[in-house]
Amino acid sequence: MRLKSIRELPIRGKRVFLRLDFNVPLSPPDAEGHRTVSDDTRIREAIPTIQYAREQGAKVIIASHLGRPKGRRNEEFTLLPAAHRLSEILGTDVTLVDDCIGEGIELKTRQLQNGDVMVLENLRFHPEEEANDLKFAQSLAKLCDVYVTDAFGTAHREHASTHRLPSIMPDRGAGFLIEKEVKYFNQILQNPAAPFHLILGGAKVSDKIKTIEALLKGVQGVLVGGAMAYAFMKAKGDPIPSEWKQPAPEDVEAAKSILSEAEKKHIPLLLPEDTNSGFDIGPKTIQKYKNFLAGAKTVFWNGPLGWFEKPEYSKGTFEIAEALAQSTAIKVVGGGDTVSAITQAGHASKFDHLSTGGGAALEYLETGSLPGIEVLKAPYRASSPDLL
Ligand code: 3PG
Repeated sequence: MRLKSIRELPIRGKRVFLRLDFNVPLSPPDAEGHRTVSDDTRIREAIPTIQYAREQGAKVIIASHLGRPKGRRNEEFTLLPAAHRLSEILGTDVTLVDDCIGEGIELKTRQLQNGDVMVLENLRFHPEEEANDLKFAQSLAKLCDVYVTDAFGTAHREHASTHRLPSIMPDRGAGFLIEKEVKYFNQILQNPAAPFHLILGGAKVSDKIKTIEALLKGVQGVLVGGAMAYAFMKAKGDPIPSEWKQPAPEDVEAAKSILSEAEKKHIPLLLPEDTNSGFDIGPKTIQKYKNFLAGAKTVFWNGPLGWFEKPEYSKGTFEIAEALAQSTAIKVVGGGDTVSAITQAGHASKFDHLSTGGGAALEYLETGSLPGIEVLKAPYRASSPDLL
């Protein structure tokens, strides 16, 4: 079965459960303990779906997790800052209710008017959410008539709101953000214009090994920066200066396996030739990487090339971002840090797609789908929903 779009669902006058990923960074608490959203990208990316649902006369019930409160209520993880930011962006009242299940909440969903927006409190205040619990999903199902997800960033999790609930809802589908994410990632996996180059940065190569190995099937070049470059250098037998942080053994092993795979496939894998005090790629490397990327037709970038949060080590990441901004290649970026770096460098609008997924983006590239998307395509079985 194929993925249904929100456009195909009967939502007029209906209570629509909209699973979003409002797991957004927050500022430290002020003197009164209030926190605000410090990066609202994930909220803004969900606006087209929210607005469409409202315009179609749906009663919009937004559900999300925030952080990892370990199944207990903890005000540090309230969705209040996210609901507040959403209300500012929409320019309309948004109610945050103090739980996500229960008779009182159900009653409130029945009092909503067409076009109203309600936000449920953090799903992960209940341990049953992460346990993918059927009874909890049934309690969530009492709040709605239709299920829509736009939580791409959480679609790799088999949780009650992302997996069990859609399996018991006859009317379910995806919002515009998921459609956009799937479109770009499928293009990269199935039909990338060549040459397709992969830029890898960040710290841990062992966390990304499966994704990198999957991408090696389609790429013509790999450029490595960030702390993970040291794992590759060590894997090749190059000495790492003792004053720098030494790569972990599992990262060196992962790098060895990637190097040997790239060699077998005759894929050039470029490593830094110089660094800026060990925290950024150096000027020779920046130039070499720019030259290499000049002919690219498709680029996927995951992981900053240096400690870009420190202005003195941001040059490598920012200059590569600028070079790509000027290129005509299809440019897709995955991972919150890389997206922040490109945004800070002022080039976000020049990239084709900045994914809202971190782990989800990598898993999609590794496996070609995600559990929270597959469940929407599975046939609905009213009699045995728990067997899915
Ligand atoms: C993310 O930020 O990657 C998603 O919201 C998933 O969060 P999690 O890693 O806590 O499940």
